[in-house]
This record gives sequence, structure tokens and C-alpha cells, in this order.
Amino acid sequence: MQARVAEAPIEELEADALVLAFSEEASRPESPQTGPTPWEALDEACGGLITRTLASRAFTGKANRCVAVPTDGHDTGKARFTDLVLVGLGPAGDIDLETWRRSIASATRTSRARGAHSLVIGAGTASAVANLEELAAAATEAARLTTYRYTAYKPIKDATELEAITVATVGDASSDPASLASLTEAVDQARIIADATCWARELINTPPNDKRPPQLANAAAKMAAECGLECEILDEPAIEALGMNALLAVGRGSSVEPRLVVLQHRGRNADGQPTALVGKGITFDTGGISLKPPAKMDEMKADMSGAAAVLATMRAVAQLDLPTTVVGVVPMAENMPSADAYRPGDIIRALNGKTIEVLNTDAEGRLVLADALAYTVERFQPRAMVDLATLTGACVVALGETVAGLMSDHDHLATDLLAASHRTGDTIWRLPLFDVYQDLIDSKVADIKNTGGRYAGALTAGKFLQNFVGDTPWAHLDIAGPAYLDKGSGYRTRGGTGFGVRLLVDWLKSSS
Ligand code: BES
Ligand code: MN
Ligand code: ZN
Repeated sequence: MQARVAEAPIEELEADALVLAFSEEASRPESPQTGPTPWEALDEACGGLITRTLASRAFTGKANRCVAVPTDGHDTGKARFTDLVLVGLGPAGDIDLETWRRSIASATRTSRARGAHSLVIGAGTASAVANLEELAAAATEAARLTTYRYTAYKPIKDATELEAITVATVGDASSDPASLASLTEAVDQARIIADATCWARELINTPPNDKRPPQLANAAAKMAAECGLECEILDEPAIEALGMNALLAVGRGSSVEPRLVVLQHRGRNADGQPTALVGKGITFDTGGISLKPPAKMDEMKADMSGAAAVLATMRAVAQLDLPTTVVGVVPMAENMPSADAYRPGDIIRALNGKTIEVLNTDAEGRLVLADALAYTVERFQPRAMVDLATLTGACVVALGETVAGLMSDHDHLATDLLAASHRTGDTIWRLPLFDVYQDLIDSKVADIKNTGGRYAGALTAGKFLQNFVGDTPWAHLDIAGPAYLDKGSGYRTRGGTGFGVRLLVDWLKSSS
């Protein structure tokens, strides 16, 4: 999908559909706009169709509700739109950037269902909730993310693909070159970030027989070569030589080797201390010897969603050429039961020397992350380190399937991530790392055990990871809920969502 900024006034553009978003208030004839509306010229160019549709009963302004009407016979002037699509933003006082994204998602879906290949999206019709750059970027993201479909094994017949969107400002067509340039930059960056998010979705949706660790590592290498990232792939002997026995143990039951992928982006302002991202890459999680029940086990192909988010973030970081140095470290393994699989009762020594008593082979994510986190700290001494993992079902119980858990021992880092979450709509909520949770994972026979019992499952998992990060400012995101959705919602399509990519890129941009 192409995304651009209109260079001509909106009333002179051409597209299959013109998308305009309005609040509930704007739809009420009893509260008419005082003075000229910003869309007056556009309305005139459409023969008054906008005002008439706004005033009609069909349009309520309720959030995400669309009314689509053909413009035939109404296009006077230079405007050439096949359809007019009005979408509601809800009550004016409640509108924020996420409301706007979701409304654009709804209008995009409606337009595509009507066969539209091209959209013009008007920004600036509702009370200012954000600046035009933010609105343009959010609209681009929402449209791109909404049009994603997984078609690798079943192409859609006669699919209407959205090929191009044009973001145009409504009214006050101050077409000064500076604002055009900054709008264009915002839209270009949003497209890069949304494309990366869709690439993460593609990796997550790929069936587990096609993304076993060596294949997933190759996909990372191919992306790295295309984007100009440095890439190292460590195979089993290399992992063993380093002493990453926890990663090795988890991968042991599989007939294919584990991998450790290390990606680096050297920013212009490289100061030696990089920011590090670490992602859980279990390409399929059967639970191992502590086998999972069959129901929904297929969804465990998404147990590499943390890895996908980190790889896709690295892709965006490279394409945006961010000035900071960023490293991505991704442990990949397939958690299978077999004659050679690791067992409950095994004690393994992680890279940092700590011994781990394995009580449940289904608590494998924290094991591969333990080694990856310790490796990242030792090799890179990052100024900050964030890991993403579909780590616990307990986190889904606590926060539901749209919100990720944030655990951090560093308030400043946590605050920055929460701010990025607020801006992007990748919602996270902070959970505690109190010392009482360490008591639950103290082992009698080793330094630590890999499960903490029934209570506080997300927190004992987070606490476990904390044992492998040393003094590094660190945050852990448990994305088990939002990484994968049975049913799509708004701009999040069903299956892999790419949760975390927009959050991380926003955070990296704002801290660079
Ligand atoms: N990958 C799962 C967690 C998960 C569950 C992700 C549901 C997405 C949806 C993880 O490896 C796991 O199995 N965790 C166990 C830990 C337990 C054995 C301590 C869990 O949550 O039950
Ligand atoms: Mn598991
Ligand atoms: Zn898992």
C-alpha cells in the first residue's frame, strides 16, 4: 500500500472513496456549526453531499459507525470520488488518537468492502486531539494495519486490495512547503512502522512447520541483509560453547537445532552503549514433557511473537535510520517432547552461572530468556534492555487479551514505556516485582526454580527473569494476551497482531 500526502486542496483530489470522520456533535442538526465549517469548500465541490449526509438519520457519529454513499451526480468542481464514507468518532470530549485510529480502521474496512482501491482520508474535521502530523501518521498506520490479511496458503479470490491512501487536510489549506514536508515525513515513517508490524504478523501467522528455528533465523538474516543490519546467527555448537545451557535444554527435544540471532543497528550518534531488545522465540510450544492439553495448542505457533516484535522493530529502526544504536537478541527453539527432551527435575546452569531447577518444561520461555538476557548484558552492557515474551497464561488472566503486562525495576524506563504505550495504543499496564515473589521461586536444590506455583504467575515469571539482568535498567513485557487474537478488532486483524512493534519504535524514537 502506498501512502502519501495530498499536494492539492482536498476538493481537487480523486479517489475511489473519500473518508471523513466526525464526532456525534457534528451529526446533530440541533447543534449546528457556528460560522463556516472547515469542510465548506469540499462540501461545495461535492454538491452539498457532506452536509446532507451528516444531517441524515443514517449518520449518528457513534464511534466506528460508517455511512457510505455514492457521490454520482454530485461531483461538481474538480472533486472525483466514487463514494463518500463518513465515520463516527463518538462524543467530541472522548476523542483521542486511538479513537481516530479505530474510526479510520472502520472506514477503511467499509471502503474496501465496497471495492475501493484508493482512499483520500481527510484529517482535521474533529476537535483537535492531536497535531496534523500525528493524525496523518495514525491514519496511515490504521489503514495499512487494517488491510493486512494472511494469504500465504489460501489466496483470496477477487480480493479488493487497497493500493493507495492519500492524507489530506480539510479546510485551512495552508499548503506551505514546510508543513507539507513534515506531514510527508510523518506519513512515510508511519508506513514503514506499519509495514514492519505487518511483517511481524506474517511471521507469527506462518505455520510452525515452516518456521522452525533455522528457518526463522534465515528469515531474520534475509531481512537484515535487505535493511542493512548486522546479523549473526549462532547454531547449536556455538550456543553450547557459550554455556547457554538453558536455551540448549529447551531446544533439546526438537529434531532441529535452536538458534540465537543477534542483530545490530549502528546509529549515527553511536556512543558505545546500545539499547537492547530481547524477544522470546519459541517457534512452537507443546509444553515438552509437561505436555499441554490439545485445546488451542495450534495457537502456540504464536509463541515467537516476542521474537517477531523484536525482529520487526529492528527492521523499522534500520529503515528509519534512527540515530541510536540498537541491538536485537532473539533466542529461538522448538519446545517438543522426545526421548532426548529435558525433564522436570533437571537442573541446568545458565550462562550467568546460576543453577535452575526445572519443575515444569512448559515454563520454557523464562529459560531461553534467562540465557539471552544474561548474554545481552555481558556482551553489550546496554543502557536499557527490554524483553518481550508470550510468557504466561496468568498474565492473560490478569489483564485480558488486549493489554500486556509491564514489569520493571527501573521507574524511569517504565514511565517512558507507558508514555509510548499511550501514544501508540499498544496498551501495557505495570505489575509489581516485589521481593515476596522471589520467595516463591527459591529452590531447595538450585539457585532458583522455573515455576512458582499457582499464585501470581505473571509476576513470578517476571521475577525469575530479573535474576538474569544484573544492574541493567530492564523492563519485561508479557505479551501473551495481545500478541495473538482469535477475532480481529479495529486495526488489529485476527491472528498475530504485531503487538509491541509500534510501542518499541515509538519508545526508541522518543529516547534517541
Ligand atoms: N507460551 C506459554 C504462555 C502462553 C499461554 C502464551 C497462553 C499465550 C497464551 C508459556 O510457555 C507457558 O506455557 N507458560 C505456563 C507457565 C507455567 C507452566 C508456570 C503457563 O502460563 O501456564
Ligand atoms: Mn510453555
Ligand atoms: Zn511458551
